[in-house]
This record gives sequence, structure tokens and C-alpha cells, in this order.
Amino acid sequence: MSKRILITGAGRRLGKVLALHFLQQDWQVVGHYNTVSELPDHDSLSLLQANLADTADTLRLCQQLQHQPAFDAVIHNASCFVPDAAGGHTPAEQAAHLTAHLNVHIVAPALITQCLEHQWNAGAAMVVLADIYADLPNQRFSAYCSSKAGLQNWALSMAQRLAGRVRVNVIQPGPIQFLPDHDDAYRQRVLSQSLVPHELGYGAIIKACDYLLDNEAVTGSVMRVDGGRFVANRYDQIFSAD
Ligand SMILES: NC(=O)c1ccc[n+]([C@@H]2O[C@H](COP(=O)([O-])OP(=O)(O)OC[C@H]3O[C@@H](n4cnc5c(N)ncnc54)[C@H](OP(=O)(O)O)[C@@H]3O)[C@@H](O)[C@H]2O)c1
Repeated sequence: MSKRILITGAGRRLGKVLALHFLQQDWQVVGHYNTVSELPDHDSLSLLQANLADTADTLRLCQQLQHQPAFDAVIHNASCFVPDAAGGHTPAEQAAHLTAHLNVHIVAPALITQCLEHQWNAGAAMVVLADIYADLPNQRFSAYCSSKAGLQNWALSMAQRLAGRVRVNVIQPGPIQFLPDHDDAYRQRVLSQSLVPHELGYGAIIKACDYLLDNEAVTGSVMRVDGGRFVANRYDQIFSAD
């Protein structure tokens, strides 16, 4: 029988590529999306829509998931990536900005995982997409970085709580795939800050997911897939003048 996987944020970019990858491996894929799904129709694909920044909408999604057959894997991939306001936020804006990041990165994964309490197949595994900036502060993206840090810590708590039933691991991607509007100067600057001097591509994260879902010895781990950027950056932060 086919294995079943839930992927959040599967409508486009990495989540879409992950969904297509698992469909190619003959998995049944439940793909959550927010605004739009670019996934083609497929007999083994079902789609569920929810805005995970809105907890009421997440709870509606959870009700739908509770009627699903058990899962072999979940990838918490959905992400909110909004810079802090350059000129500062009003208190109300700050509350909304932080709440959106915390809801998408921590509240939604926690509620979804809780609602699947009795819906794991034997040998199941969960992967959480954090970021190398979960371990690095960044004043322009403080809501993003701090909520990814919370997501990572939550995931490691789940590795403890679900031990023996679900393995839980974290991937910290670095910049993996440039956007079309990233110009050459930006690309060269980013690549010059990494130890692997070329674009990694979504395939690097797919390989990491395959490994973490497959290796029954690995749980509670944090895996950087960043071309060495974390190490390179730390060197710069400690020793460079700028
Ligand atoms: N790309 C990179 O270089 C990179 C680097 C470090 C970490 N990561 C992490 O790797 C994962 C995948 O990267 P990515 O670039 O593909 O991420 P992304 O495009 O920023 O976001 C992934 C998905 O999250 C969904 N999403 C955004 N807001 C949402 C909301 N309120 N409710 C529900 N879903 C929402 C998006 O759907 P909509 O577009 O429809 O809103 C999108 O499909 C993310 O967790 C990201 O933080 C990526």
C-alpha cells in the first residue's frame, strides 16, 4: 500500500517540488496550500486550503485532517517571510506582524501535529523546515528568525513527546534557490558568503527529506543544508570589520 504524506505550503516553490517528488515515488500526497496551488491534478494528490496565519482557519484544516487515514510522514514547510518595517511598527502593527509569523511557524504546526495524535502509521516521521537563521539573529527579520527559532525548539520537544511513534527532525536550509528577481550582483554576493559556491537548488532539500524520513536511527536532529553559509557567516560576524 502507498505511503501517505502531508506537506504544508505545497502550492508552490519548495513545497510543490516536494509534493511532485513524493507523487513520483508513489506516495499518496495531501498538499496544504494557502493562496494558490500550482500542482497538476493527480490521482494520488488531494489538496486542502488554509491560511495558517489565522488560527480559526488552521483549526478548520485540523477538522478536515482528522477524517483522513493515518500518515507515514508530515513535512511542516509553510512559512511566513516578511521583513520588519524599516521605519518601525506601531504597537498594533507589531502585534499583527509577530502573530502572523508565530501562527504560521509554531501554532499551526503544533495544532496540526496535535490533531494527528492518533493518525500515525508505524515508522512515521516528521520533518520541520526551519532556517539557519533560527540560530542567527537578524534585526531586519526579527519576527521571522525568532519564530523559526521557536519552531525548531518546538520540533525538538515533539521528538521527545512522540518518541517511539514518530521521529522528528529539523532541516535548516540556507539560501537554496534564487528568485527570478534576484540580480547577478545579489547572487554573486550570496554565493561568495557560502562554502559551496553554486546555487543548491530544491533538490538538496529533497535529498535531506528523503534521508530523514528513511533513516530510522535519526530523530531530534537539526541538519543544516546551506552550502556552509552558517559557518562562513559566523566567521564573518566574529572577525570582519563591517
Ligand atoms: N527558499 C530558501 O532559500 C529558504 C531558505 C531558508 C529556509 N527556507 C525554508 O524552507 C521552506 C520552503 O521555502 P520556500 O522558499 O518555498 O518558502 P515560501 O515560498 O516562503 O513559503 C512556503 C509556502 O508557505 C506558504 N504560506 C505563506 N504564508 C502562509 C500562510 N499564512 N498560511 C499558509 N501557508 C502560507 C506559501 O503559500 P502562499 O504563497 O500561497 O502564501 C508557500 O507556498 C520554508 O519553510 C522556508 O522558510 C527556505
